[in-house]
Amino acid sequence: MQWHLFEQAGAPMTLRLDRQQDYKRFIDGAQLTDLLTDLSADLAQGLLLLPQEALDAFPGAEDDLRQGRWSPAAAALIGDLTALARRWVTRPAMTRGMHPGAATVLNTAACLMRAQLDAVDAAGPTVLTRAPRPSVVARTRVLAPARLRSALAWSLTPMTVPTARPPAADPGDPGPAADDTGLRPPPSHPDGMRAPQIAADRMPSHVAVIMDGNGRWAEQRGLPRHEGHRAGIAAVYETVYGALEIGLRHLTLYMFSTENWKRDTEEITNILEATRRELDEGPLRDMNVRQRWSGRPDRLPQDLVHSLRREEHRTRTRTGLTLTTCINYGGRDEITRTAAALAQAAREGEVDPHLLGEDDFARHLPHPDMPDVDLLWRTGNEQRTSNFLPWHAAYAELYFTPGYWPDNDRRDLWQAITEYSRRQRRHGAVPTPLTSPANHHWPPHTRPDPRRRAR
Ligand code: IPE
Ligand code: IPE
Ligand code: MG
Repeated sequence: MQWHLFEQAGAPMTLRLDRQQDYKRFIDGAQLTDLLTDLSADLAQGLLLLPQEALDAFPGAEDDLRQGRWSPAAAALIGDLTALARRWVTRPAMTRGMHPGAATVLNTAACLMRAQLDAVDAAGPTVLTRAPRPSVVARTRVLAPARLRSALAWSLTPMTVPTARPPAADPGDPGPAADDTGLRPPPSHPDGMRAPQIAADRMPSHVAVIMDGNGRWAEQRGLPRHEGHRAGIAAVYETVYGALEIGLRHLTLYMFSTENWKRDTEEITNILEATRRELDEGPLRDMNVRQRWSGRPDRLPQDLVHSLRREEHRTRTRTGLTLTTCINYGGRDEITRTAAALAQAAREGEVDPHLLGEDDFARHLPHPDMPDVDLLWRTGNEQRTSNFLPWHAAYAELYFTPGYWPDNDRRDLWQAITEYSRRQRRHGAVPTPLTSPANHHWPPHTRPDPRRRAR
């Protein structure tokens, strides 16, 4: 957050240990302000992320909010949390003794959050249906004097900006160092393999993967199924690293389907718990990956839903790979929910059912900006799509490989993309003669061995 901006501007800020409690409270206040602002969007997805102690302190409020009812208990709870957030973001001691420029930025952030909380207060029952926003006047009242104060502070009290750090000679363990944005590049392949160069017009934008065969991988080794899922996690990271290295824009992974509830409770718990752990502690947290989740929240453990939503929110401005994980996802469920959203829009007069087109449908999908799948890859020697992305993959190139998922690494993703780059897509048009083979090449030392690799 703010400290990060200072670092980026080349003005690192020293945080004082004796003010740690203040910093922590301030960040808690910022997060609570976000939760109150996003209440309507969360409720629309069946989520209530407000702190459980607060919900418990106002009997009946939790049920009322989940039902979208604005009751006295719900109003009292929101009023109480808004006041709490206001107290938490108001920490005058935090900026005392700080460089005046840096202090202005933090104080301005606090003022903006208070304006946001005023908007939550003023919204009343509409906080349940749309995100409250402070008026332009309210924002200008904060920002205009802040700009002036900030310009004055930086010009009157210049700060010595340290020279740029030279790159570390050996990034060493634990993986490459973070760059100026605080994000790390992916660790390189253990054998030093590098991504093939694929011509831009031959690169898929969106690769979706049905990661199948974890159970059989484990059975083949006489291990319990959960060992297969555990081994599959390493293949997930390898694939994401490979996607970052080759410059893929969208990668969508099928982690748990709406049909997978038919499995043993123990296996299900294992898969979902491992997913939550990786979200909370895994290496992608510091990479340039925008994480998103597609699926239904019901039946999933609350802490998993919370972690999924948190990472989605925390990484929303990242510019690298968009990684969508499909958990409790079903393609028919997605289509049914979209149809329901369209029906609602029609009832409210926003769309005319007689004029509905495919674009209208696509706009009502849970992630309207997800592009069509170019390449759908399934491992594990099965040739079916198992209810995965029926809308987006309608014209995808299909690619099936025999190996079990845990046996894959980033080279297999590169191989899949290379295969895709050789395909001729027609989309129903008359084929044009192929003038030249696909315009890509492997640097000689990275040419993959087409035979199955021994591991
Ligand atoms: C895919 O592997 C992972 C999930 C469905 C969660 P499987 O668990 O389906 O493995 P197989 O198909 O039984 O080998
Ligand atoms: C598809 O694999 C779902 C995931 C990979 C998460 P399954 O193993 O569940 O699919 P089926 O049962 O073979 O069709
Ligand atoms: Mg399977």
